Amino acid sequence: MISFVVFGASGDLAAKKTFPALFQLFKKKAIERDQFRIIGFARSNLSNADFENIISMHSGEEQGSTVLKSFRQHSEYFRGNYSDKASFEKLNEKLKSYEEQDKSVLRIFYLAVPPSVFFDVCSNIHKTTYLPNNRTRIIVEKPFGMDYDSADMIMNLPIMRFMNPGIDAMFNHEHVESVEIFMKESGTCEGREGYFNSNGVVRDVLQNHLMQLFSAVAMDPPRSADASDIRNAKVKLLQAAKPFRREDTLFGQYVKSADGSKKGYLDLKGIPEDSNTATFVASTLYVDNERWKGVPFVFVTGKALNENDVHVSLHLRPKDMPYQSKGNQSRLVTFSIQPKEYVAFDCLIKRPTMAGGLHTAELKIDYDKDLEDVYQKYDAYEALFYDAIKGNPTRFVRSDEVEAGWRIVNNILDPKEPCEKYTFGSAGPKQLREYLHKYLYLETSKKT
Ligand SMILES: NC(=O)c1ccc[n+]([C@@H]2O[C@H](COP(=O)([O-])OP(=O)(O)OC[C@H]3O[C@@H](n4cnc5c(N)ncnc54)[C@H](OP(=O)(O)O)[C@@H]3O)[C@@H](O)[C@H]2O)c1
Repeated sequence: MISFVVFGASGDLAAKKTFPALFQLFKKKAIERDQFRIIGFARSNLSNADFENIISMHSGEEQGSTVLKSFRQHSEYFRGNYSDKASFEKLNEKLKSYEEQDKSVLRIFYLAVPPSVFFDVCSNIHKTTYLPNNRTRIIVEKPFGMDYDSADMIMNLPIMRFMNPGIDAMFNHEHVESVEIFMKESGTCEGREGYFNSNGVVRDVLQNHLMQLFSAVAMDPPRSADASDIRNAKVKLLQAAKPFRREDTLFGQYVKSADGSKKGYLDLKGIPEDSNTATFVASTLYVDNERWKGVPFVFVTGKALNENDVHVSLHLRPKDMPYQSKGNQSRLVTFSIQPKEYVAFDCLIKRPTMAGGLHTAELKIDYDKDLEDVYQKYDAYEALFYDAIKGNPTRFVRSDEVEAGWRIVNNILDPKEPCEKYTFGSAGPKQLREYLHKYLYLETSKKT
């Protein structure tokens, strides 16, 4: 028996992501339907009809469908207060009434509430509804997978590296001159201004999403594919990484679009007019280990930019080769996550003409085209809940991993000097071009 409790069941995340993902697992029978119960917990005074509407509004299903009806029958709303122990005692009674003394019952608590409530909820779970022997799991935002529909490439990166020794052989300072890790978003912080303004882009994206990408691209081979060995390898890397430094960091904040139709950050509701919260950051770190000595890892992320683009690229070190001088070599290996998933290797070939010469072609695995037959897209939340139910922690961040991530970003959490301004819908602050040339050593490459 699995009891899945969603705290904050009246909220945005629950309606848009949590319930739809649970519904998909239910629909696909990835969980045994008769052995599954969902309780939505929140303070709001919701009727059964309100709750049914919330759990089905983003299901993508016709309202009258049989599977949706069945899903609703397995779900119910529970009104309670996050700081009130008595509410949790009542919740415990409710859970017990379904679980019927099933000794193997698993309780999963998902916190779709603001972080300010986490402590109360966890402490009340501990006091009232906790079951020992690995039968209680608590899930806290953010999921590994960037809130995007598919994060398969991130899981694939270590597999491509470690299951193809020829590929991993490139992943070191001898072959790699610099690494770029980008997550550019065209979306803004509208709708979560309060949260964003007190956190900023470093806490929102760099500390978690980009650290996950960094781990996947730079960790040493894990001893085995076990979740604990994979996490050990990630922690070892994060501990070897030197913290970001202010002098290597460029902060930005967007202003309204060139035609004035899109609001600047400071024009958003509730943002103080003198806010210096960064909506953009570029920063660079180095890793103190044999594999990566001297290689800059350049991180760039920001809101309200000109595109959605999440990728990791290795800039291969130019070398003297018989057919071409150092300066002109194409040398990118790219793992693209958004908007398209693909892996591409720049490759020099003979220009297929009688006169010959060199031509840059791409060796490419395109998920949509080349893997069409096997590719089943899934939602990141669906995968996360599935793993939580099955007890596979690989997608979850371990506490020492979180701590090591915070240590790396600690010096640059907030800008001290005024942020550089950039226009809504642009590529970022104008200083970015110079920044990338300096830290990615682009002057040695023909790429800009
Ligand atoms: N929305 C997204 O797409 C998204 C994406 C990634 C991460 N997150 C994170 O997920 C969490 C939930 O996000 P959300 O957008 O669903 O938030 P939300 O709608 O603001 O809050 C969820 C629910 O929590 C309760 N709540 C709100 N403020 C509270 C407060 N100050 N004290 C006690 N309870 C409060 C409310 O329910 P009741 O009043 O009915 O109890 C609300 O319906 C946040 O930590 C957010 O940063 C959200």
